[in-house]
Amino acid sequence: MAYVQTVLGRIDPSDLGVTLPHEHTQCALWHVENRWDYWQLTRDEAVILDWQRDPTTRRFARNPAVPSAEEHHRWFAARLADPDCLPTVITLDGAPAGVLRLDPLEPLPRAPQAPAFEVSILVAPQRRGLGIAPEALGFLRRWQAAAVIVAEVLPGNEASAALFRAAGYRPGDAGLLYSDPAQSAIALSR
Ligand SMILES: CC(C)(COP(=O)(O)OP(=O)(O)OC[C@H]1O[C@@H](n2cnc3c(N)ncnc32)[C@H](O)[C@@H]1OP(=O)(O)O)[C@@H](O)C(=O)NCCC(=O)NCCS
Repeated sequence: MAYVQTVLGRIDPSDLGVTLPHEHTQCALWHVENRWDYWQLTRDEAVILDWQRDPTTRRFARNPAVPSAEEHHRWFAARLADPDCLPTVITLDGAPAGVLRLDPLEPLPRAPQAPAFEVSILVAPQRRGLGIAPEALGFLRRWQAAAVIVAEVLPGNEASAALFRAAGYRPGDAGLLYSDPAQSAIALSR
C-alpha cells in the first residue's frame, strides 16, 4: 500500500533507483517554519509587487485597487506568517515566473472527508501564453491529490476561465469552479 509520490506520479518503493547524493536532494517543505522557500518568497517580494500592480492583473483581481509597496508588504508578510496558507513561487529556468497560492477552506459538503483549498494563480505578465499556468495546475493536482481545489473566476476573465476549464475544474456551488480528488486519493490520505 505504501508508495513514493514523485513529480511524475506514484511509484512502488521497490522501483526507486539510485540517486547520486549531490543531485536531486533538495526538498521543498512548504509547511515548515523558516523553510528555505519562505526565504525565496521574501526575496521575490519586489517582483511579485510589479506583477500585482500590472493593469492586466488588477483588471480581474477581487480588489482592483493598485497596491502601494507598503500595502503589498503587509499583505505579503501576513500570507507568509499564516501557517495554513501555502504560497509558492513558480519558476521558469530558475527565475520567478508566477505565484501559486493555496488558502485553506472548511471541508465542503461535496467531499466532507477531503481537505479543501482555494487556489490563486498569477503568471508574470511577460510570461503569459507559454502554458505555465496549466503546468502549475497539473502539478497542484498531483501535489494535493486528496484535496478539493476551488477557484473563483471573475466575469470577463476569459484566460482564467479557459485555464481552469482545460484543467478539469467544473462549475459548482456559489458560482465557483471545483476540481475534485479521486476517491482513491481520499481513501489513501486517511
Ligand atoms: C490566468 C493566467 C494565470 C493564465 O496563465 P498563462 O500561463 O498565461 O496560461 P496560458 O496562456 O497557458 O493559457 C491558459 C488558457 O487561456 C487562454 N487564454 C490566454 N489568454 C487569453 C485571453 N486573453 N482571452 C482568452 N483566452 C486566453 C489560452 O489560450 C489557454 O487556453 P487553451 O488551453 O484553451 O489554449 C494569467 O493570464 C494571469 O496570471 N492572469 C492574471 C491573474 C488571474 O486572472 N488569475 C486567475 C484567477 S485566480
